[in-house]
Amino acid sequence: MSGDLLVTGIGELVTNRPGAPDLVGAVRDAAVAVVGGVVAWAGPATDLPTEHRQLPGLDAGGRAAVPGFVDAHTHLVFAGDRSDEFARRRRGESYEEILAAGGGIHRTVAATRVAAPEDLVAAASARAMRMLAAGTTTVEVKSGYGLDTATEVRMLEAARTVGEATPVDVVSTFLGAHVVDLGWDRDDYLDLVVSEMLPVCAPLARFCDVFCDRGAFTVEEARMVLEAGIAHGLRPRVHAEQLAATGATRLAASLGAVSADHLEHATPEDAAALREAGTVAVLLPGASWSLRSAPAPARMLWDAGVTVALATDCNPGTSYVESMPMVVALGCLELGLTPEEALWAATRGGALALDLPDRGRIVPGAVGDLVVLDAPSYLHIPYRPGTPLVRTVVKGGVVVTADRLP
Ligand code: NIG
Ligand code: FE
Repeated sequence: MSGDLLVTGIGELVTNRPGAPDLVGAVRDAAVAVVGGVVAWAGPATDLPTEHRQLPGLDAGGRAAVPGFVDAHTHLVFAGDRSDEFARRRRGESYEEILAAGGGIHRTVAATRVAAPEDLVAAASARAMRMLAAGTTTVEVKSGYGLDTATEVRMLEAARTVGEATPVDVVSTFLGAHVVDLGWDRDDYLDLVVSEMLPVCAPLARFCDVFCDRGAFTVEEARMVLEAGIAHGLRPRVHAEQLAATGATRLAASLGAVSADHLEHATPEDAAALREAGTVAVLLPGASWSLRSAPAPARMLWDAGVTVALATDCNPGTSYVESMPMVVALGCLELGLTPEEALWAATRGGALALDLPDRGRIVPGAVGDLVVLDAPSYLHIPYRPGTPLVRTVVKGGVVVTADRLP
């Protein structure tokens, strides 16, 4: 989207300006000018250059505004319902037991394979629109519930259609190596991923991901898939150390992966490897929350100098969470981040995790994506979890949600 807009009356603007003393670069009584979908100017309203005063206006009425959220890890395209597994886990079964018994991911695969393409698109678009209403303007979407070539392609095509049919920008990731399909020899399945799926899926995706964990793929298997992905022009990202410490994070770092995601079992050595490689740690507190497992060591990672992002991991098994404001709250309340760290991680951190340097901040040259809150300060996002605080979403300078009634 690309519009012209002057947002005035912003009581508190989070810019994520680099080098700001408070990390999020908060500015009081601010204005933002967007021209042709791109931020032309942002700062104290009293300094607004005259050339921008005639732009079409949006008055924020003294409320706070933040950059559009960048949700850097989701499994948005899927069919079926696994709410019963949530209940089974609450009665004592574990996620891994359910998966090993042919449930979990395999159930979603079975439902996704038989879903009509238009139904996949409709369900994923509805999720994307709820995400947009909660302030998400860019979302990463993975395949991985096909496990056969035709369905993996259908998932990536559905993701592309969601990006075309909704105001949310979609970035796609090929996750053919999610788990070994039921009834397959592992080596044969890996050969299918590398020799058949990758060549046809690579043109539809920007990244290649592998679930490298206990019960999924080993480090050596993941390396093979990710290197094949690189050969097809896909940068790696890795599901790492979610269920057990396996070395997946160091694999990600050694391959120059754009991100290593989950990291519940990451160690200080893993953190050092991520920092050295410049690989972003994408933390998914919705997953550990829903599984009632130990959260990722966010404080350790942040203090070790790793770039941290927060994302929903929206999926039907471990985290049916669509709301980035909820994830910011979990970042504070479950992971121990400060409000500034959590908000930065959900905006600028997400942009870096997707290698989209023009997003996640409101500075000249950035994409004009911002969210006006029904609150005087960004602090209300983690302070009031579960309360819908997003009033207006601006995507590329275009207002894409109507102001709610006062
Ligand atoms: O990121 N961990 C692997 N994949 C997903 C869960 C997929 C599912 O259970 O459907 C995740 O948590
Ligand atoms: Fe995931």
